[in-house]
Amino acid sequence: MERAVTDLAAASLVPAPADFAGPAPAISLERAADVAQREALLDLAFGRAARFGKTSERLREGRKPAEGLAFAAHGADGRVVGTLRLWHVTAGPARPALLLGPLAVHPWFRDRGLGKAMMITAINEATRLGHGAILLVGDAPYYARFGFEQRLADGLWLPGAFERSRFLGLELKSGALEGARGLVSPTGDFLAVPSLDELIARESVPAALKRSA
Ligand SMILES: CC(C)(COP(=O)(O)OP(=O)(O)OC[C@H]1O[C@@H](n2cnc3c(N)ncnc32)[C@H](O)[C@@H]1OP(=O)(O)O)[C@@H](O)C(=O)NCCC(=O)NCCS
Repeated sequence: MERAVTDLAAASLVPAPADFAGPAPAISLERAADVAQREALLDLAFGRAARFGKTSERLREGRKPAEGLAFAAHGADGRVVGTLRLWHVTAGPARPALLLGPLAVHPWFRDRGLGKAMMITAINEATRLGHGAILLVGDAPYYARFGFEQRLADGLWLPGAFERSRFLGLELKSGALEGARGLVSPTGDFLAVPSLDELIARESVPAALKRSA
């Protein structure tokens, strides 16, 4: 696993070989084993400090993504080359919605339709699961092709600085964002965090016992 993550980052520092091709990456639900490579890909795409500083991150931190709406794309060798996740939020009081992002595709695999395929997969699956609307902060020229519009998020704001022109919405059910007004807040389940007692107990287990466990 360590090796693969290092390789992934290193691979982006040089251009893809001229004859680089291969089968299209396969999109599936993210697995626990994908996490380290997903994080490396996001660091590569956005920069570690920058991505954790984003206002959207305030709606994701400490939360689980929405059930069935965390996707990974794997290249032919099994490495993660694309990631996209959606999160539960409320778009103002009592108006459930999803927050989409981050979306990232490894530089070697860009401009081949993978980002589009991941977006369409996510939108279709969110629709199938009965969700009403998706919000995101991103480049409007990219997301407009999937139907995202700034006007649908006009009455909403985020818990931090954001550019209004990059704050976009998409209705999966007609009228789902009509009249939406207020602060977007996270509503997803919390990630399990070990209690202080558990952390202390772990630290006090003798190393020999840990090795044999
Ligand atoms: C944005 C990103 C996910 C697109 O992935 P991709 O697999 O290359 O996307 P696709 O192949 O489906 O689409 C490529 C098209 O989108 C366009 N595009 C890519 N990024 C764009 C952007 N930020 N704004 C506008 N258009 C963009 C490309 O020019 C190309 O246009 P074309 O179809 O007219 O040739 C990828 O470039 C990436 O990971 N970027 C870094 C992370 C990032 O910025 N993510 C969020 C975007 S706000």
